[in-house]
Amino acid sequence: MLLTGASGELGGALALEFAREGAFLSLWGRDATRLSLIAAACSAAGATGTQVRSLDLADTDAAIAALVLDDGATPFDVAMFASGLGDIRAAGDLVESATQVARLGVVNFVSPAALATELAARMAARRHGHIVLIGSAAAFHALPFATAYAASKAGLARFAEALRINVAPHGVKVTLVSPGFIDTAAARQVPGPKPLAISADVAAARIVRAAARGKAHLVTPWPFALLRVVDRILPRPLRDRLLRALSPPGR
Ligand SMILES: NC(=O)c1ccc[n+]([C@@H]2O[C@H](COP(=O)([O-])OP(=O)(O)OC[C@H]3O[C@@H](n4cnc5c(N)ncnc54)[C@H](OP(=O)(O)O)[C@@H]3O)[C@@H](O)[C@H]2O)c1
Repeated sequence: MLLTGASGELGGALALEFAREGAFLSLWGRDATRLSLIAAACSAAGATGTQVRSLDLADTDAAIAALVLDDGATPFDVAMFASGLGDIRAAGDLVESATQVARLGVVNFVSPAALATELAARMAARRHGHIVLIGSAAAFHALPFATAYAASKAGLARFAEALRINVAPHGVKVTLVSPGFIDTAAARQVPGPKPLAISADVAAARIVRAAARGKAHLVTPWPFALLRVVDRILPRPLRDRLLRALSPPGR
């Protein structure tokens, strides 16, 4: 399997979920040390083979070239795109930094969508495969303090759904995962309360279970699915006020 974001907390937990006899794991991320550690943990947990690849998804063309190389060598049956950058507007700033908005767009949407597209075509030719894209419940809400994060994940969500419909007749499954809060170091860096936060291990187990069932969309924990409906039906002026009120102090 291919796992991007394997050096992260959710990614590490996902890698261990897949580490069993017969499994070959291609672990992608940037931090080479953390990738080696997680590869060693996967081998100790029983994975038959691991490979690590340290690369920056900000370079989409290089990432596509790496995918073509790795999938050509050992065709992937499952790919989980768990990489992602979270960011919110800096305290005192009116809007997010333009450079960071561009970076989030590429890392959270452009590169995973491009990689999933390339892989979907290759899996369709083999008439078998499963692509799992880790989005966010933030995709359902126009968060004024995290415009680029919410938008990049919204783009990914729409992409996942469109790709799923596109390739399903060719034997390729696509699952979108929209987590609420996951209690990771990255999430803890973002100020503000994190209601209903779940651990990376719990999130990983739920994701793997949903993927095994071939679910089109997993929202976890479930109250975030309810919030999505509420966001849709609220009158706009009220929704705008509520979303503004959600901004962490000083943002
Ligand atoms: N934590 C939450 O509350 C939460 C909620 C909803 C959705 N999610 C999503 O879940 C996923 C994992 O989140 P996490 O909390 O586990 O965060 P994390 O620990 O920071 O993991 C993020 C992963 O993405 C990789 N990554 C970031 N920028 C990259 C880049 N430019 N090129 C290549 N890889 C890059 C990181 O690699 P390096 O560390 O090696 O740089 C790391 O492996 C993300 O997609 C996130 O948006 C998280």
